[in-house]
Amino acid sequence: MNLYQENILDHYQHPRNKRVMKKADIRRREPNPVCGDDIEIFIKLRNGKVAEAQFEGNGCAISMAAASMLTEELIGKTPKVILKMNQKSMVQLLGVDPGTARISCATLALKATQNGLIASLNKTNKRHSKKGK
Ligand code: FES
Repeated sequence: MNLYQENILDHYQHPRNKRVMKKADIRRREPNPVCGDDIEIFIKLRNGKVAEAQFEGNGCAISMAAASMLTEELIGKTPKVILKMNQKSMVQLLGVDPGTARISCATLALKATQNGLIASLNKTNKRHSKKGK
């Protein structure tokens, strides 16, 4: 086993930040329809940046390890930067390319995070446009 595989296994067996967050600013559940695994992401923002990130859910080793790594990676980032992250960012984080068949495993947590951020930004925009009327 190489160093990257060991790191993935470590995050899978000892996931960081795997717990439900009370009073999250952003909360988003994202299932993977192909396999039925699903991940829920929780985020607390402070001064426009991620202050805390946690996750819950069930999934394969890659999806769980990716979620664990992502919750560490998100800290201090702005929604704008997070929305620019992509498959490549997740491959870099994992240290290995899981291949086309497993790329949805590697990106499930990121998808949950980005969809949660988009939903929350849309809500804020709607509130602002209502105020402007
Ligand atoms: Fe379901 Fe990986 S097999 S997310």
